Amino acid sequence: MYICLCNGISDKKIREAIRRYQPASVQHLRKILPVGKQCGKCLRATREILDEELQHIPQYKELL
Ligand code: FES
Repeated sequence: MYICLCNGISDKKIREAIRRYQPASVQHLRKILPVGKQCGKCLRATREILDEELQHIPQYKELL
């Protein structure tokens, strides 16, 4: 499913980037993918995916 329509970025792409680079924040993720760089409507959904994915990464569990 497309999360960022402006840039054609799917949830799968976002999840892959998070698993690969383990960004600490949406701001960090945006340096990897151009998500939210135009209208910004996708930022909330992106943050939810980031939170969900980081829960599966052991070193982040304590921080959330
Ligand atoms: S939907 Fe992502 S910047 Fe517009």
